[in-house]
Amino acid sequence: MGTRGREIIGLDVDKLIELLNKALADEWLAYYQYWIGAKVAEGPMRGEVVAELELHATEELGHALLLVTRIIQIGGTPLLDPKEWSEKTNCGYEIPSDPYVESLLKQNIAGEQCAISVYQKLAEITATKDPITYEIVVSILADEVEHEEDLEALQEDINLMKMRHA
Ligand SMILES: [Fe+2]
Ligand SMILES: [Fe+2]
Repeated sequence: MGTRGREIIGLDVDKLIELLNKALADEWLAYYQYWIGAKVAEGPMRGEVVAELELHATEELGHALLLVTRIIQIGGTPLLDPKEWSEKTNCGYEIPSDPYVESLLKQNIAGEQCAISVYQKLAEITATKDPITYEIVVSILADEVEHEEDLEALQEDINLMKMRHA
């Protein structure tokens, strides 16, 4: 932990650590939801959907790394027990029990929309109080916005394909 680095944060640092840990729980659940979704996916444009889900899985893991690094840097303890993922999560976990691509897309779009709200809130909280965390959450926010758009674009392509073949 950097002592001065922690002191300059103009926020309740323990509360901030709690919020970052909640986001960390979201990232691990999002990672697994994408990763397992990519394995079970079935239906039209499966190859494209699987490639996108796999890419997003990798990026959610990258977000988890950014969050853990910052939590440790400011003197916190990252969640150590996977059981805490479901206890602390903001956005939850949608079980991909229906492997049809459109169902997976719908679940993951909802997840991204929740993630966008979480990081927007974190950006607002840290904006002038903690520029380092702010920079991290804004970079994650940009990825989540891109993820939502990627998934919505795939759904639009599937819709177009269905119209053409109707
Ligand atoms: Fe993420
Ligand atoms: Fe995402």
